[in-house]
Amino acid sequence: MDYGTAQHLRVPQGMLGQSLTDLIGNTPLLRLSRVCPAGNVFAKAEWFNPGQSAKDRAAWKIIREAERAGKLGGGKVLLDSTSGNTGIAYAMIGAARGHPVRLCVPANVTPSRVKILKAYGAELILTDPTLSSDGAILKARELYRESPERYFYADQYSNENNWKAHFETTGPEIWAQSEARVTHFVATLGTAGTFVGASRYLKSRNPAIQVIEVQPDSPFHGLEGMKHMESSIVPALYDPKLADRKMVVRTEVAYRAVIDLARSEGLLCGVSAGAALAAARQVAEENPQGVVVTIFPDGGLKYLSEHFWDANL
Ligand SMILES: Cc1ncc(COP(=O)(O)O)c(C=O)c1O
Repeated sequence: MDYGTAQHLRVPQGMLGQSLTDLIGNTPLLRLSRVCPAGNVFAKAEWFNPGQSAKDRAAWKIIREAERAGKLGGGKVLLDSTSGNTGIAYAMIGAARGHPVRLCVPANVTPSRVKILKAYGAELILTDPTLSSDGAILKARELYRESPERYFYADQYSNENNWKAHFETTGPEIWAQSEARVTHFVATLGTAGTFVGASRYLKSRNPAIQVIEVQPDSPFHGLEGMKHMESSIVPALYDPKLADRKMVVRTEVAYRAVIDLARSEGLLCGVSAGAALAAARQVAEENPQGVVVTIFPDGGLKYLSEHFWDANL
């Protein structure tokens, strides 16, 4: 029988359906011609992942390797601290693979994030908002110490599979999608997994590629997902020697860039994408011949309750 060929589908031919985790990665590389007319800036649109953020990549590798090593399965609870996106990825993949998920989350994350995590069936432990993501880290460590036999403590800040996910997927995608023409790679730091993994891969292909890390300019920055290293528990994955350049972005500048992306490119992004854009735009203006690639870690729907939108809606 001739089943025809559905050329418009992105599903590989001859496959009887895909699983959720097959949809992780291979996100589009968007050209940002209107917000950066003076330079060549491209961004990975990470909200195309099924959990709608870059963290699906890290969470899936962490879970996959734990399953392989027999550390997860048979009712073991996946435990970690998260300020949101990794938690969403754990909760989503945990649901799809039958693992219970328990997450320590700062109590000041946006209400929509809490609802998303609960919708996937994750159990939440809300931690002191004044301690931000560090408070959630300390709580997860405490729970694990109390009963290590109950948990697989995923520990995204120290788990090598976090940066390896980006070494194996994000880096190669950028290399291929830019047709090996990338000259600068710009990424924000949270756990540092994205920056470290993709940078190491890109440097392995071409050591001349400049890799640039982006941090908030102050401890109380409000830029979800990003860490101000000087005032935080520094993730074990962070390699302070890797970056060719370290940039800081002010919160108001990141917010303005988020609005620019929505109004000028039609891209509704999260606030760390705004920080990434602000830094990438500066790099592109200084290097008009360069090909600057950055990461937009997530989309903007979860951030519409942020006050910077109030005056702009
Ligand atoms: C919205 C957002 N931006 C940036 C990051 C930073 O990514 P990474 O943890 O890979 O450094 C995260 C990580 O949680 C995030 O959720």
